[in-house]
Amino acid sequence: MKKALITGITGQDGAYLAKFLLDKGYDVYGTYRRLSTPNFWRLEYLEVFDKVNLIPADLSDTGSIVEALKISQPDEVYHLAAQSFVGASFETPVATGDVTGLAVTRILEAIRQTCPETKFYFAATSEMFGKTGLLNGGKSLNEGDFFYPMSPYAAAKLYGYWITRIYREAYGIFAVNGILFNHESPLRGLEFVTRKVANEVAKISLGLSKELRLGNLEAKRDWGYAPEYVEAMWLMLQQKEPDDYVIATGEAHSVKELVEKAFGIVGLDWKEYVKVDRRFFRPLDVPCLVGDYSKAKRKIGWEPRTRFDKLIEIMVEEEVDRWERWLRGERFPWDAPNYPSENRILTRALRM
Ligand code: NAP
Ligand code: GDD
Repeated sequence: MKKALITGITGQDGAYLAKFLLDKGYDVYGTYRRLSTPNFWRLEYLEVFDKVNLIPADLSDTGSIVEALKISQPDEVYHLAAQSFVGASFETPVATGDVTGLAVTRILEAIRQTCPETKFYFAATSEMFGKTGLLNGGKSLNEGDFFYPMSPYAAAKLYGYWITRIYREAYGIFAVNGILFNHESPLRGLEFVTRKVANEVAKISLGLSKELRLGNLEAKRDWGYAPEYVEAMWLMLQQKEPDDYVIATGEAHSVKELVEKAFGIVGLDWKEYVKVDRRFFRPLDVPCLVGDYSKAKRKIGWEPRTRFDKLIEIMVEEEVDRWERWLRGERFPWDAPNYPSENRILTRALRM
């Protein structure tokens, strides 16, 4: 049985990837960090919490990363953990540089020293292209395009991208960069714009909220469906040679189109509810990102199936359903966070 270690298993992609790999027959390990409130709701939501092995580790703590590798002895490492919110990276640029950037070297160095045969996936991002998406006139971006990061987050990811290539070329580690464009789902964090919009639209439609406050409505993104993107991560590690791939839908839509579509699903006019609020603007914002996934299609046989309209429908309908159930008195895992009784937490004490 193959073994995989996922850093950031409690996040959107980590949870979907855990489910995907379990369905493929993998023994799945994931790192999580101690928080004041447990955060396993996505794993519970996908009904995989009791099927994965959890190892406490923090990206700023090299020893905990080494221990996670020793406990799991993985064939494949999927490094997804990061401070992943672009807006927050302007508030905490140094911490973001450490956790999102430098920590990639901590993991690669631990792999080089303890298990150099392990394959490594790095969650790179379309944000690395930044201003290039504007300078090239909005054309779709591929693996050969110029990187021009526009946030501390993007700069940290660009460091991670290059250190991944350096360990591949210097030490022969099977290390790949997945350059993923935005991908969304009902498991997205609430602060990201698609889930924020879907959640507020659902609440407004049920009389639970009155307005939706947003920042830059002109920004354009290439939004895909997260469960399909985790399959691309796995495919990249099944190839003969390590390489880097853009994963995207090839379509860009503005935040304005997103709100128009989302309010339309519940039969409301967005202009009556959306307020522009300076708090949600960023000191710099990437104006437009659209990806060219033709290399991934040609070489690893991946292509997107869920397009923008369907994605927004999935997200809004799910939020309406959640809030209707909430109104009927049902509670969700994130309303009552807990460590479930049957857990599979592996600590270093078990190895002593
Ligand atoms: P996410 O939902 O924000 O998940 C991030 C994960 O990282 C969470 O499990 C989080 O743990 C963990 N983490 C954060 N700081 C940590 C630390 N100091 N030590 C250990 N773990 C830490 O992000 P996502 O959407 O799943 O994205 C996964 C990865 O892909 C990220 O690296 C992101 O930057 C990258 N990416 C995402 C997209 C996208 O559109 N979703 C596109 C391109 C690249 P907690 O649950 O404890 O906070
Ligand atoms: N979050 C947020 N909240 N974004 C808003 C808002 C708001 O109220 N109003 C407008 N926006 C705009 C942002 O300024 C940005 O241009 C766009 O909506 C998308 O913002 P996010 O959903 O926060 O995502 P992101 O594109 O900045 O970053 C996501 O995608 C990257 C890949 O391109 C994250 O998942 C990153 O981790 C990922 O690398």
